[in-house]
Amino acid sequence: MALPLTDIQAEELLDRYNETDSLRKHGRAVRGMMRHFAGVYNEDPEYWGQVGLLHDIDYEQWPDEHCRKTPELLREAGYDDAFIHAVISHGWPHCSDQKPELTMEKVLFACDELTGLVTAAVLMRPDHSVLTIEVKSVKKKFKSKAFAAGVDRDIINQGAEMLGVDLDFLIEGTIVGMRDVADEIGLVGAPTAPEPESSASAPEAGRAV
Ligand SMILES: [Fe+2]
Repeated sequence: MALPLTDIQAEELLDRYNETDSLRKHGRAVRGMMRHFAGVYNEDPEYWGQVGLLHDIDYEQWPDEHCRKTPELLREAGYDDAFIHAVISHGWPHCSDQKPELTMEKVLFACDELTGLVTAAVLMRPDHSVLTIEVKSVKKKFKSKAFAAGVDRDIINQGAEMLGVDLDFLIEGTIVGMRDVADEIGLVGAPTAPEPESSASAPEAGRAV
């Protein structure tokens, strides 16, 4: 599974088509999550990571053609059909007719939305840190439908079912993967500042695409 670009070049490719800070960080958060799960499943973290990094490459400029503009952009950069399938199957069935088949594809399908939920949950914490958040806290937010309402819980559940794993396993892996990239996604926060947890409404940043 050869990649045509280095990790740095893949970042440059994402950033070329996405100027929005939240989209750049979302790509990097999903890369961190995918790298972590690649390790869990004894697969290639670099390959899984680039699939995660580039999964929303077309979203900023072509939101109405999400996953349909992507093949052209990735092919032009040298990526092959297998890589493109891995990326666009995360949009199944709404944006793509390509269903997740491989474990890598199912993980992206399930945990793309979950990175959005974890981000929103972290931003609700007084310390704004992914380093201190726990599975139970994210699970509570998962059950609260009003929180980060743009995060599609059904997709996450469906992804867990496809993989044959439970929600806790996915939440934990997503948190750990995002911790590995906490600095580049701006979620190190200030873990030493203790304050009671706020009950204000969920931030917009929770929406994953
Ligand atoms: Fe996404």
